[in-house]
Amino acid sequence: MQERIQELVDILNKANVEYYLNDNPFLSDNEYDSLLNELIKLEKENPDLILPDSPTQKVATKVISEFQKVRHKTPMFSLSNVFNEQEIRDFHQRILKEFPSCEYVCELKLDGLAVNLTYEKGILVRAATRGDGTIGEDITHNAKTIKTLPLKLNKPVDLEVRGEIIMSKKSFHECNLKREKEGLPLFQNPRNAAAGSIRQLDSKIAMERDLDIFLYHIPSSSFKTHYETMQYIKDLGLPVNSNLKKVDGVNGVLEYIDYWTEHRSDLPYEIDGIVIKANDLAMQRELGSTAKYPKWATAYKFPAEEVITKLKDIIFTVGRTGQITPNAVLEPIKVAGSTVKRATLHNMEYIKNKDLKINDYVYLHKAGDVIPEVVGPVLNRRTGQEIVLEMIKECPICHTPLIKSTSEIDYFCPNKACPARSVESLIHFVSRNAMNIDGLGDRIMEDFYNLNLVQHYPDIYELKNKKQELIELEGFGTKSVENLLISIENSKQNSLERLLFALGIPGIGQKNATILAKKYNDLDNLMNASVEELQEISDIGEVLAHNIVEYFDNPANRITIRELKEHGINTTYLGLGEKIIEHELFSNKKFVLTGTLSFIKRDDLKRIIEKYNGSVSSSVSSKTDVVIVGEDPGSKYDKALKLNIEVWNEEKILSILQDLNEV
Ligand code: IVH
Repeated sequence: MQERIQELVDILNKANVEYYLNDNPFLSDNEYDSLLNELIKLEKENPDLILPDSPTQKVATKVISEFQKVRHKTPMFSLSNVFNEQEIRDFHQRILKEFPSCEYVCELKLDGLAVNLTYEKGILVRAATRGDGTIGEDITHNAKTIKTLPLKLNKPVDLEVRGEIIMSKKSFHECNLKREKEGLPLFQNPRNAAAGSIRQLDSKIAMERDLDIFLYHIPSSSFKTHYETMQYIKDLGLPVNSNLKKVDGVNGVLEYIDYWTEHRSDLPYEIDGIVIKANDLAMQRELGSTAKYPKWATAYKFPAEEVITKLKDIIFTVGRTGQITPNAVLEPIKVAGSTVKRATLHNMEYIKNKDLKINDYVYLHKAGDVIPEVVGPVLNRRTGQEIVLEMIKECPICHTPLIKSTSEIDYFCPNKACPARSVESLIHFVSRNAMNIDGLGDRIMEDFYNLNLVQHYPDIYELKNKKQELIELEGFGTKSVENLLISIENSKQNSLERLLFALGIPGIGQKNATILAKKYNDLDNLMNASVEELQEISDIGEVLAHNIVEYFDNPANRITIRELKEHGINTTYLGLGEKIIEHELFSNKKFVLTGTLSFIKRDDLKRIIEKYNGSVSSSVSSKTDVVIVGEDPGSKYDKALKLNIEVWNEEKILSILQDLNEV
């Protein structure tokens, strides 16, 4: 019995691969159905014998009650963007600073959503979305419905592999036709449709939507090149996009881009650019990454679609710092897949430089395909009815007279109690990179504020006592309120850097919040730090140090923090558990690394330097304290010699690290 089940699973899986991946069916539909029915019958009689890679597991629908959070083993990076030939050449030049030449692999930039797959002993055990790069959501039940994705690899290996889930143009149109018939709102583009299908609790929906997938990255590949890694992914039986190409140098990249700029519309799925990756994996490791992006890859984005629409009005909004921003109110228009009604105009300088007037017809595109941007007026469509915008004198919300920033460009509402500022601060507090509370979108937060449910940050943690009141609100139900309260509870366990960023201390972005959290470990320590002490940290300047001390000296802020603590919000750094250690050779020194070190990866060395309170920057200047030089150093070494900067060779750094027990 067990043997027959195994046999049926193998034949049916092979038939699936040949049918969906290789376009080479070897079973007729009838034969396939009869074998599948035999398997279903046997599995029904012997549920203990169901194999994890059985095709019935692909067809079976599964309904989950909520998405589980998944911490990625290694962070899922996004890619930096380049938009023209010059920026591609600049990217190439940055690599040439470190290496004499570079071979690239060019790939299509598939317009879908990134996914991380985990296979254990060759069996698919988890699929997770990118989320914030560190923590994503478990979507295994939906990923399993993707017909081209094998539940079992050709080899029984443990593997983390990443790729893109997409929806073909054909499936997208079919899906929208069906939705139109059913009177449901239409998806704007295949990416939204794919993302909407993956974010479903009931896998039946994903299965009906006919999703597809291509894999393009193994985070810890042991091959020499990306190209070989891709061949391996393919050999394991996973779908790989066949249009990838190995090219030498920047000219090959430009040719590949030219080709696909012309032919992209022939593809059965949408692409929004070309991904350029350094092929050599040792080189990738040397180049390392910034906080967000690998330095060995970039994404060329196709030029944004440009449209013309009417600028009906310009209105002013108030941000959380009180900053006043003019916003374009546009005649709604579809551009690059979604309908745009508003676009930020940043400040009065921007409007003046672009010569924008109310009633103008304007060119509009999406910068990086995401953020709507008004490019400029269509001058030959002016009628004389256009109106030059006058700056307002008082806050549009609380009517306090506005003040100008020191730069003389921005205007601010100085009223700290301005309702618009409060709402924006609350929206920031719960946002994804701050306390990461799901279910409190901008609108809801505004409603909660107006209904007096939430006025200050600690009120968010009181919401659990108002459950019934929330359930009775329009647009809410028991389930959504319960999910919201769970998300609020979970946010109490955030590491300190999220809280620091969420508080909205002027000048404290995510990066500085992390630096401070690591350095001080506990909020109380930071609250007691002096301006002088803070200024000693290399990334914290005088203004920022004053901002921090001023913020924590303010009695209202102290009360807020006390209340947050009383609600049980964590105020310690949980990150990697690595505390900053002072060390005379590293503390407060700026390092630059060049060339290859044989005994350590560049990212690891950087982490060690930071652990001992040093910092690493990418270019040599008079502020650099030490340049660490490995084999085949780039021009940074010459510059260090010219500027008479201390140089450590491989031997020296190795002996220091050995003394510290770091290698
Ligand atoms: S590689 C560390 N390759 O584009 C490298 N990404 O804008 C990880 N994408 O987050 C990404 N096609 O979701 C890579 N051939 C491709 C891609 C691709 C689409 C997506 C991916 C990434 C985003 C960056």
